[in-house]
Amino acid sequence: MHLKSYLAAAIYGLPALAHAAPSPASGSSSSASSSSSDPHFKTYTIKAENITATLIPYGARLTSLLVPDRDGNEQDVIVGYDDPKTYLHDSETNRTFFGAVVGRYANRIKNGTFSIDGTAYHIPENENGGRDTLHGGSVGYDMRNWTVTSHTDSAITFSLLDQGLENFPGDVISYATFSVSTQKSAENPKGLPQLTTKLVSLALTQKTPIMLANHLYWNLNAFKNPTILNDTLLQLPLSERFIVGDGILIPTGEIGDVDTAYSGALDFTEPKLIGKDIDKTTGLCGTGCTGYDTCWLVDRPAAYGAGDTVVPTVRVASEKTGISLEIATNQAAMQVYTCNGQNGSIATKDSQAKRNKAQDGNPGAAFVNKYGCVVFETEDWIDGINQPQWGRRPYQIAGPDDGPVVNFATYQFGTI
Ligand SMILES: *[C@@H]1O[C@H](CO)[C@@H](O)[C@H](O)[C@H]1NC(C)=O
Ligand SMILES: *[C@@H]1O[C@H](CO)[C@@H](O)[C@H](O)[C@H]1NC(C)=O
Ligand SMILES: *[C@@H]1O[C@H](CO)[C@@H](O)[C@H](O)[C@H]1NC(C)=O
Ligand SMILES: *[C@@H]1O[C@H](CO)[C@@H](O)[C@H](O)[C@H]1NC(C)=O
Ligand SMILES: *[C@@H]1O[C@H](CO)[C@@H](O)[C@H](O)[C@H]1NC(C)=O
Ligand SMILES: *[C@@H]1O[C@H](CO)[C@@H](O)[C@H](O)[C@H]1NC(C)=O
Repeated sequence: MHLKSYLAAAIYGLPALAHAAPSPASGSSSSASSSSSDPHFKTYTIKAENITATLIPYGARLTSLLVPDRDGNEQDVIVGYDDPKTYLHDSETNRTFFGAVVGRYANRIKNGTFSIDGTAYHIPENENGGRDTLHGGSVGYDMRNWTVTSHTDSAITFSLLDQGLENFPGDVISYATFSVSTQKSAENPKGLPQLTTKLVSLALTQKTPIMLANHLYWNLNAFKNPTILNDTLLQLPLSERFIVGDGILIPTGEIGDVDTAYSGALDFTEPKLIGKDIDKTTGLCGTGCTGYDTCWLVDRPAAYGAGDTVVPTVRVASEKTGISLEIATNQAAMQVYTCNGQNGSIATKDSQAKRNKAQDGNPGAAFVNKYGCVVFETEDWIDGINQPQWGRRPYQIAGPDDGPVVNFATYQFGTI
């Protein structure tokens, strides 16, 4: 257990807080926008030098993140909408999960069923004509109105008390904390702009699956290119294995090897352009689909110690803007999705087009195209609750006698 996160869980582990009215901490009111009268879509800003994030309570959602490019110009590297209310419309139509926290259980659950101690549970299947549950069911955490429990200039915490929502067993309280910093530390020796996310959950009454994840869509070229295929380098330094999925991306139980599968297209152990081998992936993201929508395992070398040590799991950089991102996490897997399902029906942010126009005389991509973004979800082995032979159930099922379930990640920005 990451010590800092454990302490946070202990401090925040008070269910009563979930009912607390939003009460921004002193000094923060200036950065909470009053443009929206509906508190669920109110924007909250957190800032440190060279990093500014905007969030809303609806889905505990990150709606923008500004960091400098190699010329020192600010770029928004998060995909989403300028108008917070559009996220509600999105949930009712595309349900992209743009920027949200997903839960109570991220990714897919085969047949919407699982068993704990001999009892079978059934939750709503909201994908593939009722063959599986995606991201927590018909009304997932992405569609919940989280409570703001604290807000300072550089950090915000949302909480959600889930009392058996979507037929999951028992009550779970979760805290989602986002903070930004450029302070030098052992984990950040250069004092780079860093976003830290902590998703801390406690099972209060019954044993239940818990797997929250951030569902952040990135575009490090800030939509200056139509896709991310030809400018964005990706490295998954610790991922030599991946979870094999069937035609609707439900794990078959088999673990694949990046050396051999799809002629090496999944091998990102060294940096590689995302588009380099994408043509070889047909079928990987589902029947007839070309692209990545894949859960890579994070295999910590023995020297790293415990299985939940915080390790660098993703390095990604855009040759166009020079922006680089390194994601480190305590999680055991990394889902990567290359926006194969986007088809140019969603417009990019006006704010982004304006920024691009001012910087380059060209607004950039007007729409979120196929392969126009990439999602990284730090999480555990997907559908591990239905694959007992993987040995992941103890990490994914928690009850009132267990400690907090913590998904910890840092996102460090630099330039190339
Ligand atoms: C912030 O970004 C600017 C422009 O890239 C850079 O000159 C400056 O050193 C950065 N500040 C810190 C604390 O890194
Ligand atoms: C997807 O969302 C966009 C933006 O809200 C909207 O214009 C579009 O109609 C939606 N697509 C579908 C299929 O609903
Ligand atoms: C699928 O779920 C249904 C409940 O909706 C259950 O009756 C059935 O046994 C499940 N099938 C499998 C293969 O688990
Ligand atoms: C969240 O708030 C919005 C706006 O107030 C509302 O339309 C929506 O139904 C709420 N979501 C849930 C799950 O209650
Ligand atoms: C981008 O990469 C894709 C896949 O590698 C390739 O098909 C396409 O021609 C490239 N486009 C440009 C503009 O280079
Ligand atoms: C684009 O995607 C949306 C949402 O998934 C879908 O409803 C629409 O039919 C798609 N449009 C095309 C041209 O494929």
